[in-house]
Amino acid sequence: MCWALAATLLLGILLLLLVALGSRRRRLPSEPPLDKGFVPWLGHAVEFGKDAASFLSKMKQKHGDIFTIQVAGKFVTILLDPHSYDSVLWESSCKLDFNKYARLLMDRMFDVKLPDYDPKEEKAMLRLALQNKNLPSLTRAMFLNLQTVLLSDPSQLSRQWKEDGLFHLSYSMMLRAGYLTLYGNEKENYTDPSCQDKDRAHSAEVYNEFYKLDQLLMRAARSTLTTAEKEEAASVKGRLWKLLSVKRLNSNTNKSSWLESYMQHLAELGVDEDMQSRAMLLQLWATQGNAGPAVFWLLLFLLKDPAAMAAVQGELEKVIRNKGPTTKQMQSISQEMLDRTPVFDSVLNETLRLTAAPFISREVLADMQLKMADGREFSLRKEYRLCLFPYLSPQMDSEIYEDPEKFKYDRFLNADNTEKRDFYKGGKRLKYYNMPWGAGINTCIGKFHAVNSIKQFVFQLLTNFDLELKDPEARLPGFDKGRYGFGMLQPENDIMVRYKWKG
Ligand code: HEM
Ligand SMILES: *[C@@H]1O[C@H](CO)[C@@H](O)[C@H](O)[C@H]1NC(C)=O
Ligand SMILES: *[C@@H]1O[C@H](CO)[C@@H](O)[C@H](O)[C@H]1NC(C)=O
Ligand SMILES: *[C@@H]1O[C@H](CO)[C@@H](O)[C@H](O)[C@H]1NC(C)=O
Repeated sequence: MCWALAATLLLGILLLLLVALGSRRRRLPSEPPLDKGFVPWLGHAVEFGKDAASFLSKMKQKHGDIFTIQVAGKFVTILLDPHSYDSVLWESSCKLDFNKYARLLMDRMFDVKLPDYDPKEEKAMLRLALQNKNLPSLTRAMFLNLQTVLLSDPSQLSRQWKEDGLFHLSYSMMLRAGYLTLYGNEKENYTDPSCQDKDRAHSAEVYNEFYKLDQLLMRAARSTLTTAEKEEAASVKGRLWKLLSVKRLNSNTNKSSWLESYMQHLAELGVDEDMQSRAMLLQLWATQGNAGPAVFWLLLFLLKDPAAMAAVQGELEKVIRNKGPTTKQMQSISQEMLDRTPVFDSVLNETLRLTAAPFISREVLADMQLKMADGREFSLRKEYRLCLFPYLSPQMDSEIYEDPEKFKYDRFLNADNTEKRDFYKGGKRLKYYNMPWGAGINTCIGKFHAVNSIKQFVFQLLTNFDLELKDPEARLPGFDKGRYGFGMLQPENDIMVRYKWKG
């Protein structure tokens, strides 16, 4: 009797709870369409993690350009109307916070836990170290370090064809030179060739370890690593923390002011040395994870499109060859030269349009109204996550771009080689039509250095080496679909190329 009563009571309470929970998540008319999926709690987590781009474009067809999905217990509102992005990008951080989720990822991916600090202030300080008056020294250092890894390596300088995977070639050269540029060179006598040997060996070790970790990071971010993968990630991270240890960095020369400011910032926060090297690894990913993959796609698109390659080569001849010395003899390349490349700029922007796929996310801190550009208004609930995915729109939007999946090297050029900036959706000109670098407070702070670095590498490679596809018929590889949302996409498989020093 007593048991039955207790059981009925319990059941009653449970039912009440369920109804309460259920109704909390029932959509109000003022809210975006809600799609919880069929699996309780998990919702759409599996599909979302496997291939966010095709899942979200399916949802877009079903619900339109704003909707809420359930993903592993979290409710995520997706906004896909680029005309309305400004209402998110510039909203106050008391309503839409960009820091909470970033800190969660920092911990999941890199075991980094830092004391509270003002992220805006940190960003402003680091931006300063990567731009304006610090840019020329970064550009010069990158030029020399690219020579170290590419042109002074005796093993590269043979007149025989060599084979390599294009992704491996691009990513390793960019990461190694980029790493040396920011984190510094082997100390003492830099003109001594043995120091360059050490830089080559050390940077190659950093790349090899980093690459292993890079393959695990997306699943670490989603907390879906297997036990074995977790162990592997832990041991790779352990080796990288040693390679990037404070003691080691302190003994380097030519450290960038970016590194100096960041180290000082961490010290001021009272972060211990152990945590400092973890933060150094996080920064290695933030600063080096995107440019290498971007170079891969850019070179591959050029190799598959002879007209584009000829246009870039022609521009290069004009800018560099007229100057006389080859890049091997040059000591640096001026910003003025780097800025005179409209064709290359269009090629790069078109490459990034096709292959850069970051999310821009915010935590909703208090119930709020979101105003869309067309006048609609939606309420967002506290504790939802709001997420923009510019890859689907504007970047791959067929209303904005003709044949959006095709690489057209001059898509961003007018007939007179000036930059094309007028793109439309729904008859209205777009402020945001290509967002590989993010936007608003979420803009990449290393953009100018990144563009200079990419240009310098492609110029040095194309002027000093013959480069061709091993199999000219090779098809463009598909994307590693687990990487949507994290920046530059990577290919599912590498593409073999042959290259030979021109001598
Ligand atoms: C093709 C190359 C690159 C692309 C497409 C790219 C794109 C991005 C994007 C979308 C963000 C996120 C912004 C945010 O959500 O706040 C970001 C952040 C960042 N990028 Fe880049 N990036 C590239 C290369 C670089 C390079 C070479 C550096 C090196 C200095 C760099 C430094 C950073 C840093 C430090 C952040 C974090 C800023 C913060 O504190 O929030 N990036 N980048
Ligand atoms: C490093 O500094 C030395 C002089 O201190 C300079 O000669 C060398 O060019 C620098 N290397 C790079 C890669 O900036
Ligand atoms: C630096 O290395 C060069 C080449 O090995 C050598 O000629 C020079 O004497 C060295 N300088 C110092 C200060 O060790
Ligand atoms: C490429 O995009 C950048 C913005 O990221 C812009 O500054 C530049 O002018 C663009 N160039 C062309 C040719 O589209």
